[in-house]
Amino acid sequence: MNKGKKLYEGKAKIIYETKEKGLAIQHFKDDATAFNNKKKATVEGKGVLNNRISEHILNNLNQVGIKNHLVKRLNMREQLIKLVEIIPIEVIVRNIATGSLTKRLGVTDGTVLEKPLIEFCYKKDELDDPLIAKEHIFAFNWATKEEIKIIEEMTFRINDFMSGMFRGIGIKLVDFKLEFGRIWNNDQKEVILADEISPDTCRLWDIKSEKKLDKDRFRKDLGNIIQAYQEVARRLGIVPETTNVSEVNFKKPTSINIKKR
Ligand code: TMP
Ligand code: ASP
Repeated sequence: MNKGKKLYEGKAKIIYETKEKGLAIQHFKDDATAFNNKKKATVEGKGVLNNRISEHILNNLNQVGIKNHLVKRLNMREQLIKLVEIIPIEVIVRNIATGSLTKRLGVTDGTVLEKPLIEFCYKKDELDDPLIAKEHIFAFNWATKEEIKIIEEMTFRINDFMSGMFRGIGIKLVDFKLEFGRIWNNDQKEVILADEISPDTCRLWDIKSEKKLDKDRFRKDLGNIIQAYQEVARRLGIVPETTNVSEVNFKKPTSINIKKR
């Protein structure tokens, strides 16, 4: 599949056009950012791991009927995806209170929530992706009521599926972020899951030790970022595709290589 011109470059991924109508290539970079780009580094091998982990999760979601943009993984860093019109909302799901929720509301870190909590943020880097109410979404026509209803239903199902999947490998799914997009099927608009699901977009804690196995290791300078992502991949049963895994060795973590930018 030949890559065409760059359509969009985000903080961790690049989208390229393809010759096939409605299809694009999603490329995973090694760039890590936090606090809306204020902290930046290159974490060698992160893109390769996120590509594999996100492929695994989205394939599994597809198998339980949750439609998403993934067509197939192409290589170590790229996936063929359906080109969507992205809905400019980040959907955050929380099972355990931590991160910005505890800062904002003073809730004790680690409080288990009785029901999953869904929050919406407006996807706008210049504004630091502010938290919004559902009413803002309708007031500014970012999505329709029908679309939000579908998004909420899909989000709860994704949370149930992923919580079980991670629990089975000794990991608590603390919280995560989803993005959705629109595609057109014979003039019929459909909302599907887009973007990625990986340790960049989830908080994952080891069940026993509560060790963080996600991007909080970068946000909080905890070290061993790649080793944590490798541990998630290993527990998910993802194995390297070739014997030439100079970029990432899943069994023997190579020394961590972070270049501050
Ligand atoms: P928060 O506690 O910082 O609001 O993050 C909630 C979850 O959303 C956490 O799993 C990390 C994820 N997230 C992203 O994927 N992208 C973002 O830009 C932010 C702020 C959070
Ligand atoms: N996506 C946010 C950024 O790029 C960071 C985060 O995940 O906390 O800065």
